[in-house]
Order: sequence, then structure tokens, then C-alpha cells
Amino acid sequence: MSGATAPLVLEIATEDQMHTFGVRLGSLLIEGDLVSLNGPLGAGKTTLTRGIGEGLEAQGNVSSPTFLIARTHPTASGTPFHHIDAYRLSSPAELDDLDIDFARSISVIEWGKGFAEGLSESLLTIDIERDLETDLRTLSLQGQGRFANVAEFFGEH
Ligand SMILES: Nc1ncnc2c1ncn2[C@@H]1O[C@H](COP(=O)(O)OP(=O)(O)OP(=O)(O)O)[C@@H](O)[C@H]1O
Ligand SMILES: [Mg+2]
Repeated sequence: MSGATAPLVLEIATEDQMHTFGVRLGSLLIEGDLVSLNGPLGAGKTTLTRGIGEGLEAQGNVSSPTFLIARTHPTASGTPFHHIDAYRLSSPAELDDLDIDFARSISVIEWGKGFAEGLSESLLTIDIERDLETDLRTLSLQGQGRFANVAEFFGEH
């Protein structure tokens, strides 16, 4: 991605830390922001999303939607929060069918790679690696739009 800086790498040792980072991130998100979460089963994508929902003061339970592809939560600011799980989607066209207005909402897509690109000018991609022995999660963050300089974004907030 042109203009993007090197990824910001964060080490997250526990589920609580993952949640807390999500709360911080959620409190920084604004209309038009899209977060793409990637990483294997159990990486912590939903844990992070639950924190983001708390940071947004989203109503309702943010959970791993087993049968739903997407769930929309009202938030304190009035901007809707869409939590999407692309695991069962086979093509971006299926995401199109959901008719989500990404410019007028805040969205998180679990398994976003291959789906999130091009949906919003303001995209934060978080890749999560999982160490099976230590539970340590290594997050690599990269973005475009207001997340292009991701280290500065998190450093200044
Ligand atoms: N450092 C950590 N960060 C996040 N979760 C952790 C950590 N260490 C252990 N865990 C555990 O890993 C699991 C993460 O589950 P979670 O549902 O958030 O993952 P997921 O990436 O959404 O998985 P899926 O792809 O199945 O939806 C939880 O059971 C949590 O307790
Ligand atoms: Mg999940």
C-alpha cells in the first residue's frame, strides 16, 4: 500500500490485555473506519472486537456469531457498529449483498483479508499471530487513510 509506513507490532500476553487494547482502539474509532482482523482460530479476534464494542459503548452483546455473518450494534455516538465474520463467506460479492454503508458506520471484519480491501478509505488491518505454548499474541498493525502512519496514530492517542 503506497504511503503506508512499517507495521506497528504489539505483544499481547493475556486475554485481558487483548480486551483492554480493544477498548482503547474502540474509543478512537470514528465514522468511516474499518478494522480488518486476521489470524487463526482462537487468535483473539472476537476478544478484541468485544473490547472495541466496549470502547464504542455499543449496545448489545458482541459475540462470535455462529450463524450470523453480521450483527449491527447502536453506539453511544449514534454511529452504527457492524461486527462482521467473513469466515463463511466465499466471495466479496456475498459481503456486498449485506448492503453495509461502510462510510456511514464503524465496522470490524473478522477474517477480513480478501474482503476488507477497497471498502473504505480508512482501513486498519490487524494480523494476529498466536504462540500455542505461551498464549502470547503478536499483533501487526498496518493501515491506510487516517491509519497510514499507524505508529503515530497510536502514539498520539
Ligand atoms: N493473549 C491472548 N489474547 C487473546 N486471547 C487469548 C490470549 N491468551 C489466551 N487467549 C484465549 O484465546 C481465545 C481467543 O478466542 P477468540 O474467540 O477471541 O478468538 P477468534 O480469533 O475470534 O477465534 P475464531 O476464529 O474461532 O472466531 C480465548 O479463549 C482466550 O481466552
Ligand atoms: Mg471470532
